[in-house]
Amino acid sequence: MSGEPRLTVLGAGYLGITHAASMASLGFDVLGVDTDAARVDQLNAGHLPIYEPGLEELLRAGLGAGRVRFTTSYSEAASFGDVHFICTGTPQQPGSNRADLSQVYACVAALAPLLDRPCLVVGKSTVPVGTARRLAAELSQACPGAELAWNPEFLREGSAVADTLAPDRIVVGVTSGRAEQILRQLYARPLAAGAAFIVTSLETAELAKAAANAFLATKISFINAMAEICETAGGDVRDLAQILGADPRIGPAFLRAGLGYGGGCLPKDIRAFSARAEELGAGASLAFLREVDAINLRRRARTADLALELAGGNLTGVPVCVLGAAFKPGSDDVRDSPALDVAQILTGMGARVTVYDPAALENARRARPELSYAPTLADAAQGAHVVLLLTEWPEFTALTPASLEGIVARRNIIDARNALDPARWREAGWEYRALGVAEDAADRARLDASPW
Ligand code: UGA
Repeated sequence: MSGEPRLTVLGAGYLGITHAASMASLGFDVLGVDTDAARVDQLNAGHLPIYEPGLEELLRAGLGAGRVRFTTSYSEAASFGDVHFICTGTPQQPGSNRADLSQVYACVAALAPLLDRPCLVVGKSTVPVGTARRLAAELSQACPGAELAWNPEFLREGSAVADTLAPDRIVVGVTSGRAEQILRQLYARPLAAGAAFIVTSLETAELAKAAANAFLATKISFINAMAEICETAGGDVRDLAQILGADPRIGPAFLRAGLGYGGGCLPKDIRAFSARAEELGAGASLAFLREVDAINLRRRARTADLALELAGGNLTGVPVCVLGAAFKPGSDDVRDSPALDVAQILTGMGARVTVYDPAALENARRARPELSYAPTLADAAQGAHVVLLLTEWPEFTALTPASLEGIVARRNIIDARNALDPARWREAGWEYRALGVAEDAADRARLDASPW
């Protein structure tokens, strides 16, 4: 390979679109490939099929400069690319905790027989440990000059562009110095800007991603377990998180107690990690991740119970306003959304739920057509007996009691993301409840009855 390598990006989801547009902005010629022709047309016209701040501008700049375009043709990709990035999705298999690797395998099966010159295939998708080694064997059998490397992606939705262009670390699992050298060349700009470059085995590179997401999920569930203790012992988890976070060995990130994690990554990744450990006979090592998952899901049930309490023990026919559908602010992604789960649970308890979200309404409607949606916050809150803040969008965290005056029928609010100022709401005559603080009558009664 001489001169600047030409790149293909296989799979045009969150990861693939971001990677294609970012590599084009670093000066490489990039061809994106997706089997969905409508998506390919949309991307070539400069429109994003997802919501991601700053990405559409980056895509349009790349299209305008002639540095990036999209196709459905794998043979075009095989003849175009010196380096091929696998960026296909690895969702949870229905009815199992395992990852569904069909898209990754299909992508390699489509590309490998078409390769007729030396090239590097780089996996970025999140896969169970051992997948890369298997893919490497398949690849070299189909094309002896093709080599496989693994380069996990750590980007977050909502800050995907910045995370890709200025990552804190670049992990490359390689089996040769040549692969390492190519990847150093591709990432020269972020490396010069200070990103750590960690060269390791294929297995460690795969594990790096699974372990990072498992750690983040564990940190969130740890603080949410402390929230449960606070609820029964009379503590305040917000103060507790601040105290823990002030210790530099612990750090404040990912200690925001509340409704817990969701999205297309953390929930399915920790389940797939546990499932893989079991397959390897090391299930005991990751048994704690089952508890991490259980704590996370319990927060959803607890939030619904708080609404039941505020409604006086019966939600049948009670108008309830749910603020948030996205799994986190800054995203329109509703995959495994805690907010939508709570909306569903409340509906099951008989409540008349109306959901509002500034970006995710369309996706929410598609995913859960049985729920009711409103086009504005005021419409959703109209006549509500209970308001639940379930995704901490700025539009919701900026809410004041005055802004809901004359709109809601009763002043009951559940702050499931610990994003509001409790004193302000209480002073205005609201019943305010949050996760991780024992403040309701039932909690007080439990504390009074304790033998201490
Ligand atoms: C996560 C990881 O943070 C990325 O590093 C990783 O690359 C990505 O998954 C992936 O595997 O592709 P993401 O799913 O975009 O990124 O979202 P996060 O910002 O990690 O948030 C995950 C969830 O945790 C959200 O539902 C958020 O509301 C929740 N969260 C986060 C908390 O409940 N408390 C916190 O303190 C932090």
